[in-house]
Amino acid sequence: MAFTIAIDGPAAAGKGTISRRVAAHFGLAHLDTGLLYRAVGRRLLEGTDPEEAARALRADDLDETLLRTDAVAQAASRVAVIPEVRAALLDFQRAFARRDGGAVLDGRDIGTVICPEAEAKLFVTASAEVRAERRWKELTGRGFEVSPEEVLADVRERDARDMDRAEAPLRPAEDAVVIDTSEMDIEAAVAAAIAAVEARR
Ligand code: DC
Repeated sequence: MAFTIAIDGPAAAGKGTISRRVAAHFGLAHLDTGLLYRAVGRRLLEGTDPEEAARALRADDLDETLLRTDAVAQAASRVAVIPEVRAALLDFQRAFARRDGGAVLDGRDIGTVICPEAEAKLFVTASAEVRAERRWKELTGRGFEVSPEEVLADVRERDARDMDRAEAPLRPAEDAVVIDTSEMDIEAAVAAAIAAVEARR
């Protein structure tokens, strides 16, 4: 039987780490749906039409090492407002969600649009300031030269675009458990997520 866990939330709230750890804990497959939008965003930066890029997406395009940059993240958030791009990525995500044995999907609209019937839904969030600080540490740790102010402005810009778009905006599903990680370390956040899923099983 398929058991689907939907994990949504804004950029840099800890969703990625939590999703990987929750998937490992329950022995489920995991899909980071942001990578799909990032791969399309990367194609946009190369001059490809985003709708065409979304339709032609292949597994090789999801190589994380090329997709974890701020420029690609911003491009991903821009292509994500295009309804035709979202529609082209829908079937793949839905099929993944219902695969045998179950799955964890993380993104912005998993609990609301992709998989409203998911057995467990989490909304992982944190204040913009805390998320920007975490992102700044991660980027400078990887050798990028950015100021904390630039990172905060980027986080706010991406939040606004992801939340205010007409199609599948970022918001918690009505039946989602909201986990605010502002005051939590990653271990506490993972434990809270696992406890929330256990409560739905
Ligand atoms: O989670 P991420 O930072 O990798 O996502 C990059 C962008 O992709 C994000 O700003 C908005 C978009 N996205 C989306 O619209 N829907 C999803 N399910 C996942 C990501």
